[in-house]
Amino acid sequence: MNSSPWWKEATIYQIYPRSFFDSNGDGEGDLPGVTSKLDYVKSLGVDAIWLSPFYTSPNKDGGYDVANPRDVDPRFGNLEDAKELIAQAHQRDLRVIADIVPNHFSDQHVWFQAALKAGPGSKERERFHFYDAHADGTPPNNWISIFGGPSWTQVEDGQFYLHLFDSSQPDLNWENPEVNADFEKTLRFWIDLGVDGFRIDVAHGLIKEDVLTNHPDPQGLSDALRLDVAMDFEKRNALLLTVPFFDRQGVHEIYKKWRKLFDSYGDREIMAVAEAWVHPPVNATRYVRADELHQVFNFDLLTADFNSDVLFGVVERSISLNATVNALPTWALSNHDSPRVASRIGDEQARALALFVFGLPGSTYVFAGQELGLPDGQLQDSDRQDPMFFRSNGPSKGRDGARVPLPWSGETTPFGFSTGKPWLPISQSWKDFTVEHELTDPKSSLHLYKNALELRKEFLVGAGGITWLGSSRHGSKEDALLSYSRGPITVVMNLSDSVQECDTAGKLLIVSGANVDARDGKKLIPALSTAWFLA
Ligand code: NOJ
Repeated sequence: MNSSPWWKEATIYQIYPRSFFDSNGDGEGDLPGVTSKLDYVKSLGVDAIWLSPFYTSPNKDGGYDVANPRDVDPRFGNLEDAKELIAQAHQRDLRVIADIVPNHFSDQHVWFQAALKAGPGSKERERFHFYDAHADGTPPNNWISIFGGPSWTQVEDGQFYLHLFDSSQPDLNWENPEVNADFEKTLRFWIDLGVDGFRIDVAHGLIKEDVLTNHPDPQGLSDALRLDVAMDFEKRNALLLTVPFFDRQGVHEIYKKWRKLFDSYGDREIMAVAEAWVHPPVNATRYVRADELHQVFNFDLLTADFNSDVLFGVVERSISLNATVNALPTWALSNHDSPRVASRIGDEQARALALFVFGLPGSTYVFAGQELGLPDGQLQDSDRQDPMFFRSNGPSKGRDGARVPLPWSGETTPFGFSTGKPWLPISQSWKDFTVEHELTDPKSSLHLYKNALELRKEFLVGAGGITWLGSSRHGSKEDALLSYSRGPITVVMNLSDSVQECDTAGKLLIVSGANVDARDGKKLIPALSTAWFLA
C-alpha cells in the first residue's frame, strides 16, 4: 500500500448531477452527462469526483430522500450508466465518491411503506421512530425540523413518525440492527460496483437520545441550527450544546464498524468523509480518529467573513484540532447547501480565498461551477424547488440559487447545458461564465483554478505544515495581509482594497488578481488578491 493514501491531500470536485450536464434533453443533468464531461473534469487537475445522490428518489429534497439506495433513478440513467461513469473516471485516474444518506429514507422506500401498512407495534415500524401521540393528540415531543415546521408527522392510525428534515424523509432507527445491516449492504454494493469512497450525509445525526423529551427552547435551537438566522454568538453556542439528536456517542460505534468494512478492501483505499456539523468544533475530530472515518468536513469557510482575524482563526484552529488526532483538515468554500462563495464574499475575494486555501495542507473540495466563479442564480419564487423554502413558508429562500445548472457554451441560455428547458432557469447574464468563454480568457477564474491546482500538485501536496509569516498580530482586523509559507512556497493574501507592500522574496508563480509589481525590493500585492511565490 502507498504510504500516503490518495485522499489525504486530494482535490475533490463535487458534482450535483442534476445540474451538471443533460445528455438527453429532459432539462435535468444525468450520469451519462457527467461521463461525457470527464475530460473537462480531469483537465481541472482534480483527483476525485463526489457525486451528490443519484439514487431512486421522488426528489423531494434533491435526491437526499432516497427510495432505493442500491439503484439509479431513471432521471439520472441506470446502473449500467453508473458503472460506465466509474469505469471512465478510473481510466482518467479520477476516483469516485458516492453520497450515502443513512439518517433517513424517503417515505417511498419499501420499508416505510411496509411500516405504514403494518401498523403500531410492528417490527416494520421499529425501523423508524414511530410513537403514539400524547393524550391531548400532540406529537411525542416539541422538536422543530431543520427545514422548519414540526419534526413529527401523524399517520392515519394516529401515530407520529420523526423526521429531522422534510416530512418525506422519515428518520431511521439506528438502534435496530436491521438498519446497520442494510447500510453495510449498500456500502458493499457501491464498493463492488467500483466507487472509491463515500460522503456520509448527516453523519452526526444517526443516533437520537431522549426522543420523548421536550427541548426547553425548540425555536431557539432550530434558529441556532440555521446559519441564515442571526443570533448572538454565545447564545448560539450555548444552544448548540443542547442538541438531543446530533453528535451522540453512539454514532462513533457505527463508524468504527464501517471503518473495518472499508479496510477489508485493503489497497483499494476506500475512504469516507463525514458531513458532521457539530459543536464544539473539537468534537468533529472524533469522527476522524484512527479507527473511524478518514475526513470530516470543515464548514467554517462557508460562512467566514473575508477578514484576516476570522480566516486566521479558522485555518489555525482547523489544522491544530485535526492534528490532535493525526488527521489533516478539509476545506470547502461552496457546496450545494450554501450560497456560492462569489455571491457571498465577492468575486475577487472568492478568487483570492481559493488560491489561499489551495496552498493549505489537507483535502480541498471544489463545488462544480466554483471554478468558473459562478454567482448564485437569481430565481423567482415560482422557480424554487427546495423544501427548505416551502417548509419555512418563504423567509428562507432555500438552496436553489447554488444549484442552477452549469453554463457550458454558446451565447444564449441555457448555454449548452441541455437541449430542453433546464429544471432551474439559467440567466442570460451568465454568458461570460461559460466554460467555452472562460477557456478563451487567460485571466478567467477557470484558468486560475487550473493553474493553481497544477502548482499545488507540483509543489505542495505532501509538503507538510504551514508557518505563519508577517505580523505577529495575526488575528487583528487591521492586518491587511495574511501570509504563510509551506514547503518552497510563500502564500500572501491581501484582504484590503488597496495595493499592499510585502517583503516576500522569490519568484511569482501565480496571482488571483492583477499583476504583482515590485518597488524598492518589495513586492506589491494587488488589492483583494492572493499570490504564490517560489523560494
Ligand atoms: C445534508 C445535505 O447536504 C442536504 O442537501 C440535505 O437536504 C440534508 N443533508 C438532508 O439529507
